[in-house]
Amino acid sequence: MGNEFDRYRHQHDKGVGAKISWLLNIPKFWNSPLSKEVIRILGPEKGENVLDIGAGMGPATVEAASRGAHVVAVDPSRFMRAVLGFRRQFQKNPGLITVEAGVAERIPLSKGSTDVVFAVNAVHHWVDLEASIEEIVRVSSSQGRVLLVDEDFTNPDHPQHEKHHDHEEEMTKVDVDMIKSIFESYGVEATGEKVSLAGLPVKLIKANVH
Ligand SMILES: C[S@@+](CC[C@H](N)C(=O)[O-])C[C@H]1O[C@@H](n2cnc3c(N)ncnc32)[C@H](O)[C@@H]1O
Repeated sequence: MGNEFDRYRHQHDKGVGAKISWLLNIPKFWNSPLSKEVIRILGPEKGENVLDIGAGMGPATVEAASRGAHVVAVDPSRFMRAVLGFRRQFQKNPGLITVEAGVAERIPLSKGSTDVVFAVNAVHHWVDLEASIEEIVRVSSSQGRVLLVDEDFTNPDHPQHEKHHDHEEEMTKVDVDMIKSIFESYGVEATGEKVSLAGLPVKLIKANVH
């Protein structure tokens, strides 16, 4: 049975094969040094409202909640939400984590409700970058800090370059300059760069909503 977010989902998220592939990748998706680094940079504090877009199995969500922040983990995949919902129960303070159905293009949060917004390895899934960034700006508070990061498999230095170098042919192209300029078109200061984070080449976009 499908859900209302199906039209945003890529083929590789559908069917039994996809679920087996996600399960085989649990070690990578459960805890990731990249997610830890994202949370270290953003430094969500106790009581802050945080949004993890495309939270998956929640490596960054649990990291942010461990600091006492309230985290809404949004994902269109019922499977991912079920895994994270299960994982949530074993956290020190499960009440800090809410798992919600949604997509970057349609975030199930109200205007100005969120202090910290991030997405780790999820932007390449977004089918409508304009709509997604408009939504991020809408839900961000007046002190909102935003960080979007995707591993850069197109970089030959990435350890999985050979396996995933054609990633962006089947997914949304993550173009840091274009994403930066979309933020700027909403009057939001942003940077877009290709750097190394947690030892991996990444595409990194940071923005501050004032
Ligand atoms: C590669 S996983 C990354 C998950 C997690 N952030 C991590 O770092 O392990 C990408 C996630 O994005 C989700 N996703 C797919 N399309 C999306 C969209 N349009 N908006 C938000 N999330 C989406 C997928 O369901 C999946 O859970």
